Amino acid sequence: MKIYVPLDSMAKALGAEEVTHAIVKEACRQGHKIEIIRTGTRGMAWLEPLVEIDRGDGRVGYGAVTPDQVSAMLDGSLESLGRVEDIPFLARQTRLTFARCGVIDPLNLADYEAHGGLVGLKRAIAMSAADIVEQVKQSGLRGRGGAGFPTGVKWDTVRQAQAERKYIVCNADEGDSGTFADRMIIEGDPFSVIEGMAIAGLATGATHGFVYIRSEYPDAIKIMSAAVDLARINRILGTNVLGSGKAFDMEVRVGAGAYICGEETSMLNSLEGNPGVVRAKPPLPALQGFMGKPTVVNNVISLATVPVIFEKGAAHHASFGVGRSRGTVTLQLAGNVKYGGLFETAFGITLGETVMDIGGGTRNGRPIKAVQVGGPLGSYLPVEKFDTPIGYEELGAEGGLMGHAGLVVFDDTTNMLEMARFAMQFCAIESCGKCTPCRVGSVRGVETIDRIAAGDHEAPALLSDLCELMHDSSLCALGGFIYHPVMSAFEHFPDDFSTTKEAAE
Ligand code: NAI
Ligand code: SF4
Repeated sequence: MKIYVPLDSMAKALGAEEVTHAIVKEACRQGHKIEIIRTGTRGMAWLEPLVEIDRGDGRVGYGAVTPDQVSAMLDGSLESLGRVEDIPFLARQTRLTFARCGVIDPLNLADYEAHGGLVGLKRAIAMSAADIVEQVKQSGLRGRGGAGFPTGVKWDTVRQAQAERKYIVCNADEGDSGTFADRMIIEGDPFSVIEGMAIAGLATGATHGFVYIRSEYPDAIKIMSAAVDLARINRILGTNVLGSGKAFDMEVRVGAGAYICGEETSMLNSLEGNPGVVRAKPPLPALQGFMGKPTVVNNVISLATVPVIFEKGAAHHASFGVGRSRGTVTLQLAGNVKYGGLFETAFGITLGETVMDIGGGTRNGRPIKAVQVGGPLGSYLPVEKFDTPIGYEELGAEGGLMGHAGLVVFDDTTNMLEMARFAMQFCAIESCGKCTPCRVGSVRGVETIDRIAAGDHEAPALLSDLCELMHDSSLCALGGFIYHPVMSAFEHFPDDFSTTKEAAE
């Protein structure tokens, strides 16, 4: 009997380790011959720890298992969820990037290869750098960190740059509120990130890479470090990648807890050992990045999606999606939602379908008031916007932001003035201090929102002006995009900013 238990930190936080110990103890007591396989998570938060048992006819799931249920689970008297692949939340997904996550042992290379791993890298090795880049362009892949810049175009800039050294940097400083896709793929399928980085190296001529992981992810750091070592031992990394004669190696670097180090130029400063302060662009990192050399900076999900593009073909990837948003989006459902977790699907699904049909509405059953899409810099969208398809341009047209595809759900008891204040305060706390509009503007912004709360009739217009100024003159997206949450709260939920209403009357 094979028993699969997630080692993902979400599952561990919900008791996966205690359940594993109980399984070992109880299997001995009942006299079962078992093999325990640790996997990543399938991404269904409400079912963790989700234990899967294969008694010879496929993997059957047991949700939210507690140690005192283990005895009944092993003797077959505990009711199961049926075949895991048939659970509606999973069955409705199109898993390209996360196909292996929750299925394989993340540190078992044979398991990785048995599920399509390394096929992409082997194909890329046989191609010229220009052809690799062309395939990525054809796939339509765009930066999954938030900005949606075409990955192939970025790689081409680095490929064509003349320099004796080039670098690949994987941005795993996942700081957006309500997001966990980067952590989940690193803990569940780290070789996909390594394979994507190696392909990026072949495409651009970069021979060294870094994965910059936030310190708040200790399990991801351990798993990625072990995966890098295993990849090197197995010659996936090193001076002769899979016998190709080409070199690519990489290392793990750990951040120190600053949100702004997820911004690419701050990250490069941090990687170089300098304070995590934003650099002005241009020069673009693609031309002058790490140590002044041409550098690809890509998000974890962008890089983890590259292998499947080469495994299944660029056209296959491009066949999913809507408009200019091609492929799949790894939606992360969080906040006050019944079925939270990771849902990978083709771009184009509507916001309402995601939150109501997939997410099941709020956990406490109250009506939804707002959904914040795209992290702390994303807009609070009201129920009236639920028809909006999820895509970069489609969300942008509604004043929203794709960001890292995190969706945080709020019920009708939420006060949106407080949420606007929270957003502005977040900006004040996390500002790197480099430019005045953000450093000073965010502090004044909090004060202005407090003035609105206190009934100052002049403050709403002032807040609007301040947001416009911060948008137009901040150096990076933190100060530049904070108007999204603040002004969306202000415009969509005027009753919570009652002085606005009174002033208008
Ligand atoms: P950006 O629009 O300045 O740049 C996007 C990317 O394209 C950058 O890597 C840039 O260097 C590159 N680029 C632009 N023109 C290029 C060219 N001609 N050739 C090659 N490369 C080129 O956006 P930025 O500031 O990098 O990211 C902002 C986004 O980050 C926001 O949309 C926000 O949602 C997201 N974000 C994500 C977070 C997360 O946790 N994943 C946290 C905070 C923000
Ligand atoms: Fe730093 Fe804020 Fe300016 Fe960005 S907008 S450079 S975080 S001060």
